[in-house]
Amino acid sequence: MKFSHIGLLSAMPEEIGTITNDLTDIKITSFGDFKVYSGIWKKDEDQFIYLSVAFSGWGKVSAARATTRLISILYKNIPVELILFTGVAASTKENIKQWDIVLGECLIQHDMDATPLFDKFVIPSLNKKELLPPKKIFEFLFGKFKEFDSFFEQSKFGMVKRGVIASGDQFVSDENTLKKILFNIPTLSAIEMEGASFAQVSIQENIPWLVIRVISDNAKEGSENDFSKFVQEYKFHSHKLISILIESFI
Ligand code: ADE
Repeated sequence: MKFSHIGLLSAMPEEIGTITNDLTDIKITSFGDFKVYSGIWKKDEDQFIYLSVAFSGWGKVSAARATTRLISILYKNIPVELILFTGVAASTKENIKQWDIVLGECLIQHDMDATPLFDKFVIPSLNKKELLPPKKIFEFLFGKFKEFDSFFEQSKFGMVKRGVIASGDQFVSDENTLKKILFNIPTLSAIEMEGASFAQVSIQENIPWLVIRVISDNAKEGSENDFSKFVQEYKFHSHKLISILIESFI
């Protein structure tokens, strides 16, 4: 499955590492304080892809704004054809550990609540709560990542998993809050602050999308410390994950 131009977002620079250093022929497009770095990513002498990279900032509003801007980018006259959101998330399951990789097969906005007019979590403009990425692209990438299982296991990374990811404008760091979210979404695998907003915009703008997260903490007491420590280390490893991600589509 090949694409000519991929858009890549993460909330923080640490989650994308030094990827922009690997691009050639860089063009920067600014929208106020938001910058998109577009360039050529070379896999080898004759295989390459156009990549547009940006940091959204934290939270659902920032993610929605960044997604909208990113998909407006043309690089060498080629529009963005697939967008990826990557970065860290908290695990909400005992068997999903720090450094495990979770591919979002369903995204939910856990702080969307228009009851009693709509069921809990339903996004009124879509009339649905479960945001599903394009199945073929999801399965393709999941299969590719599974091929790298032994590489991931020998590196810092852990297991590759698929699961439900919930997003909300809240850094979760206590068991009570986590339990309430899990009560409403028992199948939840991971929690973060951007993916489901990115998913909503992508669906409404009709552009293929995927969310790929690496587990940094467990959303319980003290997770702010685990998160901060993890991100400082993750920035040295995110490059490898992103290389595998991008090169899966060349
Ligand atoms: N992203 C990473 N860890 C998180 C947490 N505990 N809560 C929300 N978003 C996160």
